[in-house]
Amino acid sequence: MNKSMLLAMLAGLALLAVPVHAADVAAGKVLAAASCADCHGDDGMGDDDYPAIAGMSVEKFTKAMQEYQNGTRTKNPKMTKEAKKLSAAQIADLSAYYAKLK
Ligand code: HEC
Repeated sequence: MNKSMLLAMLAGLALLAVPVHAADVAAGKVLAAASCADCHGDDGMGDDDYPAIAGMSVEKFTKAMQEYQNGTRTKNPKMTKEAKKLSAAQIADLSAYYAKLK
């Protein structure tokens, strides 16, 4: 096997190791500013009417969004509507972004 074949194989392996969707913090930030900041604030800290979501762990955030989507969490119809617009990839981006906000 020559060197370029070996390199091609290694590159292939590296591609396999990449998850289907790597959470994209920058994309999460854009989406958050467009869809979430109205209620949860630019800094994600909420106010008297809306809970703070900045600094939530990826696990907690993802679970909450899934619960809105599948109807196990129904406390707020507006939030359910917001969650239902999102794809799993968008939730991953948003969770990565908000987990970093403090
Ligand atoms: C119209 C206002 C509104 C918008 C827009 C909105 N939310 Fe919410 N959100 C709420 C309210 C009200 C709650 C509290 C409801 C509850 O207790 O279940 C909430 C709760 C949450 C929670 C759960 C917090 C916790 O402590 O369990 C998360 C996570 C969340 N929102 C994320 C988002 C994201 C991400 C977006 C943008 C895609 C968004 N929200 C857009 C009003 C909004």
